[in-house]
Amino acid sequence: MLQARLLRPYTEKFFRAAGLAPRMRVSDVGSGMGDVALLSADIVGPAGSVLGIDRDAAALDNARRRTEEQGYASWVEFQTGDLDEFTTTDQFDALVGRYVLLYQPDPSSVIRSLLRSVKPGGTSFCRNQVLVSGPKEVSTERGGAACPAAPTGP
Ligand SMILES: C[S@@+](CC[C@H](N)C(=O)[O-])C[C@H]1O[C@@H](n2cnc3c(N)ncnc32)[C@H](O)[C@@H]1O
Repeated sequence: MLQARLLRPYTEKFFRAAGLAPRMRVSDVGSGMGDVALLSADIVGPAGSVLGIDRDAAALDNARRRTEEQGYASWVEFQTGDLDEFTTTDQFDALVGRYVLLYQPDPSSVIRSLLRSVKPGGTSFCRNQVLVSGPKEVSTERGGAACPAAPTGP
């Protein structure tokens, strides 16, 4: 898709600046057709892994098909569900999301809840359209806002 191709270089630059790197375990919230999950997969490589989460099962079917076709299936998977209800025992190195916070009635509450799945000690960053939480704090861009550090409690 044209939009995906246009957005990719900006998103990639942002993710790399935020510290996304090979071998990381990443969750992509509001994954949709999987563009951000596949970009993250390129960055973390097959020694890392990506879990994409979305409530739209049909979009995730497309994301899974693209993942298979493009050869990422061994390190990218998708899970259907609402971010409000997402729970996991996994601890991710980075949490990423693009064009998803604007759909949340209470974005702060969603961010607080999602940050529980990020490894303790990580710093975090979010902006209106892109959410990145990982080990490295990056400067805010226009429209951005610092998020609280990942909680260390249960
Ligand atoms: C505009 S699309 C962005 C898709 C992808 N992040 C990208 O940038 O290409 C927003 C996606 O977020 C998902 N979404 C929004 N709110 C959600 C929620 N509370 N739980 C799960 N998925 C959600 C929608 O189903 C949709 O697929």
